Amino acid sequence: MSKTAELKLNGQTYELPVIEGTEKEIAIDIGELREKSGAITLDLGYKNTGATKSAITFLDGDQGILRYRGYAIEELAEKSTFEEVSYLLIFGKLPTRQELEEFSYDIRTHTLVHEDIKKILDGFPSTAHPMGVLASLFCAQTAFYPESLDPNRSDELVYLSIIRSLAKMPTFAAWSYKNALGHPVNYPDNELDYCSRFLKMMFALPGQRYEVDPVVAQALNQLLILHADHEQNCSTSTVRIVGSSRASIYASISAGINALWGPLHGGANQEVIVMLENIRKDGGNIEKWINKAKDKNDPFRLMGFGHRVYKNFDPRAKIIKRAADGVLAKLGVKDPVLDIAKKLEEVALQDDYFVERKLYPNVDFYSGIIYRALGLPVDMFTVMFAMGRLPGWIAQWKEMRDNKEPIGRPRQIYVGERLRPYVPIDQRG
Ligand code: SDX
Repeated sequence: MSKTAELKLNGQTYELPVIEGTEKEIAIDIGELREKSGAITLDLGYKNTGATKSAITFLDGDQGILRYRGYAIEELAEKSTFEEVSYLLIFGKLPTRQELEEFSYDIRTHTLVHEDIKKILDGFPSTAHPMGVLASLFCAQTAFYPESLDPNRSDELVYLSIIRSLAKMPTFAAWSYKNALGHPVNYPDNELDYCSRFLKMMFALPGQRYEVDPVVAQALNQLLILHADHEQNCSTSTVRIVGSSRASIYASISAGINALWGPLHGGANQEVIVMLENIRKDGGNIEKWINKAKDKNDPFRLMGFGHRVYKNFDPRAKIIKRAADGVLAKLGVKDPVLDIAKKLEEVALQDDYFVERKLYPNVDFYSGIIYRALGLPVDMFTVMFAMGRLPGWIAQWKEMRDNKEPIGRPRQIYVGERLRPYVPIDQRG
């Protein structure tokens, strides 16, 4: 592999260093390109641009590979727990039994949120989308923990902020749901594990006994693991760039929650169910909707299909598709949209339009079907994605901080007006 790349520009040849990652990916380091040649690169959507060097998650989009700190997602989804995967992503190794018990204890003892946060929650109408509530409550922690405003104050404080983030996210998520229902909130039951604690806060009703179904808790555990990190996606890049200004971890992650909300990103899981329901109500005419997705004059896209990196099956989609069958069977749930989803996938993957563009089901295509079977309402689906992605956002923010990466500030190519004189208002056309 050559150590340098040559760029020929305006009769000059510039040598640029080439770097290679541990999985043989290569990059041309253009850190000195502008200084050497006066030119910058332009790459709308950063489709070919690396923003950092990271040791957290490895994706191979052509092979459909996803690994957290070197461990295959298939193994982690089958054998690990969400708290253990959170520790792995954030601290770079699988915890010993004692380390995991201490980590779990620290999380369990920080699940309560300041009662004054309820005053913020009460200010939201029940019509507020839970993602907007979640982003606001998460950022409100900057007001209750002002010492967190300096992310470089101490490693101990960063650890405490990490624990508070993981501990309080489920409480905020469940409270945003209760707010939408106009129900009183539930407080965390610290006798329960991470997923069970969340489910009880979500679904327990005043004066009624609530037992967590272990099938539901295990399905949620697996879904959160599958969403835990995904290298430099839109919301993680948002967390990194906001954090690069030395904004607090709470402000950086709140920005990530907002980026995830978009329907092209984490909001897709909600849009998939809306799409499948529309197809069902339309009589299940798969061909019609496939043709709409292919029609350039039709804004409709097959939600849950396609991916910036995966040009093969998203490995998470394969696992979730298998889990959907299992969870619905165990819960005795028949969901007509699951059959529609499978038929849609089957037809699309035989259609040249999708095959040529290497458009496969992504993580969002089947996840909503399981969330619905678990009793979660559609507009909570992206909140679940945010809960799952939280340890990844934390790990990436911490890596950016620990590596003392510079503030993110991309360049541009200006295509606006050349210099022109000011025109007094009475002389304007
Ligand atoms: C997530 O980055 C991550 O890692 C994200 C994520 C994570 O874990 O963080 O994996 C989570 O966000 C998954 C993606 C969820 N979004 C959706 O399911 C929305 C539907 N998908 C598309 O909007 C699209 O596929 C994207 C946004 C996911 C990717 O878009 P790209 O990489 O910018 O690709 P593109 O829009 O340039 O599409 C390339 C071609 C275009 O056709 P042509 O112009 O070449 O003719 O494929 C077409 C697109 O029109 N296309 C689709 C399509 N997705 C792409 N056509 C119909 N239906 C689709 N879903």
